[in-house]
Amino acid sequence: MQALILAGGEGTRLRPLTTSVPKPVIPLAGRPFLTFMIDWLASHGVDQVILSCGFLAEGVEAVLGERHGDVALRYVNEREPLGTGGPVKLAEGEGLLEDRFLVLNGDVLTDIDVGAELALHERSGARVTLALAEVEETASYGVVPTAADGQVEAFLEKQEGPVPTNRINAGCYIVEREALSLIDAGRPASLERDLFPRLVGDGLYGYLADGYWMDIGTPERYLQGTWDLLAGDPPSDLPARDESGSLVYEPTITAGAQIGPQAVIGPHCSVGSDARIERSVLHSDVSVGPDAVVLESVLATGVRVGQGARIEAQTIVGQGARIGPGAQLPPGSRIEPGAEVD
Ligand code: GTP
Repeated sequence: MQALILAGGEGTRLRPLTTSVPKPVIPLAGRPFLTFMIDWLASHGVDQVILSCGFLAEGVEAVLGERHGDVALRYVNEREPLGTGGPVKLAEGEGLLEDRFLVLNGDVLTDIDVGAELALHERSGARVTLALAEVEETASYGVVPTAADGQVEAFLEKQEGPVPTNRINAGCYIVEREALSLIDAGRPASLERDLFPRLVGDGLYGYLADGYWMDIGTPERYLQGTWDLLAGDPPSDLPARDESGSLVYEPTITAGAQIGPQAVIGPHCSVGSDARIERSVLHSDVSVGPDAVVLESVLATGVRVGQGARIEAQTIVGQGARIGPGAQLPPGSRIEPGAEVD
C-alpha cells in the first residue's frame, strides 16, 4: 500500500519551533515527528511513502533520507505552496500514484486502524473515505456528520457556535485516484474545500476511528502528544522512561538536577545542579544553568538558559536563543531563534 503525506505547510501555529525546522521533522519525544507516522503506517502494510514537501523541503529529506525501516520514501517538492489538494494532483501528474492510496496530514499522531478504514472503503464502494475522530472541543476543526451507513452528509469547515456532531476530519484518507479528476492540475487546491464537499452524496464516506488521535500542530497539543507518548498511549518503540516518566537521551549531564515528571531531555544537553525541568522538552544541545526552573515548555536546539532563570508554562524558546541569568519568562512566551533575553 502507498501513502502520500502532506508535509509542505509552514506550521505557523508552532512557530518559532518551525521557523527553521519543518514541522514534519521537529523532534517529538526525541525523534523526528514523521517517524512515528511512518511506523504506524508500516504496521498497517504501507511500504511506500511519498512525502509532499514545500516549505523548507530540503530539511525533510535531509533528516529522513530514502528509507525509514522497511518503508521506501520518495519526495515531491513543489515550487510554490499548492495547499492540501494541489500536491496530490502534482504527484498524480508525475505518474507516482497507484489506483488507490492513502493521504495523510503530516502532523497527526495516531494509532487509527487503517485496515478497518480500508474494509469500510471496500464494502461501501467509496471514492474517498475519511477517518473521523471524536473530540470534546470542535471549535478549531471542521466537523463531518455521517449517515448510519457511513455516507458523509456534509463537510462543514471550522465555525463558531453549535455544530451537528463532534466527529472531525482526522486527516487520514483513502482515495481512489479517479476522484482526483475533480481537482484542477497546476494550481493550489484544497482537499477540504475543493474536493470533499463535491463528493458529498457521490462516494464520500466516513470511518469513525477509535483509539488515539492528536494533531500536534499547536504548542499545547505538541506538549500533550509528548506526555501521551511518554505514558505509552499511543504505543511506540521509544526507549524506556525513568521512574519520573521522563526520557533522557545520552550523552547528557543532569547530576544534581530535578528532571521530571514527564520531561524529555535530548542528547548533548546539560542541566545544572538544583535546576528543575518539569513536563518540558529540551531538544538537543541545550544547556540550563544551576537553579533554573523550566515548566511545561519547549527549548529548541542550542538554547542556553542562565543560572536561576525561570521559564513558565507553554513557553517556546526558538533555536539558539539565550535566556540570561535570573530572567523570568511569563506563561505563553515565544522567543525567536537566536534572540537574547536579559
Ligand atoms: P499552520 O500554519 O499552523 O496552520 O500549519 P500547516 O501549515 O501545517 O497547515 P495545516 O495544519 O492546515 O496543514 C495540514 C497538512 O497539510 C500539514 O501536514 C501541512 O504540512 C500540509 N500542507 C499545508 N499546506 C501545504 C502546501 O501548500 N503544500 C504541501 N505539500 N503540504 C501542505
